[in-house]
Amino acid sequence: MAIRRFSEKKLTSEVLHRIRETKNPRLKQVMTAYIKHLHAFVREVKPTPDEWMQGIQFLTETGHWSTGKRQEFILMSDTLGVSMLVDALNYKTSAGATESTVLGPFHRERAPAYPLGANISKHASDGQPCLVSGTVRDTAGRPVAGAKLDIWQGGADGLYDSQKGDAMNLRGVLRSDARGRFHFRCVKPEFYPVPNDGPVGRMLTATGRHPMRPPHLHFWITAKGHKPLITHLFVKGGKYLDSDAVFGVKPELIIDFKQGKDGVATASYDFVLMKNKK
Ligand code: BEZ
Ligand code: FE
Repeated sequence: MAIRRFSEKKLTSEVLHRIRETKNPRLKQVMTAYIKHLHAFVREVKPTPDEWMQGIQFLTETGHWSTGKRQEFILMSDTLGVSMLVDALNYKTSAGATESTVLGPFHRERAPAYPLGANISKHASDGQPCLVSGTVRDTAGRPVAGAKLDIWQGGADGLYDSQKGDAMNLRGVLRSDARGRFHFRCVKPEFYPVPNDGPVGRMLTATGRHPMRPPHLHFWITAKGHKPLITHLFVKGGKYLDSDAVFGVKPELIIDFKQGKDGVATASYDFVLMKNKK
């Protein structure tokens, strides 16, 4: 049997032909697009073998840096704007509903449950005291009682507890009351860099970018019958709002953190959840 020679032109269609029997239709669609785009990328860039190997080494290193605590691949997706693109394509907000943004790598499962009014900051050195309050409602303005608010933030040193190997701090889970209200104490968010001592940090530097995120507080809000909402509240006037390293800022999520005379900052926000489609 004559062995076929795959010309540069025919190689892509031959690879696509090889996956023709993929049973799972979604996997077939994903793999087809992946092969087409990857081949188109190589055709456009024309990497030398050394450059291609450099790319492979970069991905290998990214894998080696990734652990349960350090998600270098999530960081790559975030800093290349892919996480926000996936979010934008999936979380379409209906009128009045709160906008979503990136999850990021610092959420922890099983954060401590607190009563309303609790302080999620355990150490005086965590930062400037701050009081946050608001409501959880649906798009018709009805209060959502018993909504679970999973909240997390970094400290004034720009680090999350998990980055320091610390016990749970600056994070907690609260429930909205019968009128959909919540309030808790925390510290006023500060800007900080995304982890940048690994391959993603090198990529940022090499492409002339800074690694900073503007000051923000994370929320993951879930309630029965409603779509989960993963979002942040950003501090109005904060640094880097216009050049967030992970493209997560949306104007609707920027709010005032008012400076009180007692040294306590206060902020308030009314979250609006969308109903789950039946
Ligand atoms: C964060 O806000 O915690 C975060 C989000 C994306 C990448 C790195 C950090
Ligand atoms: Fe964050």
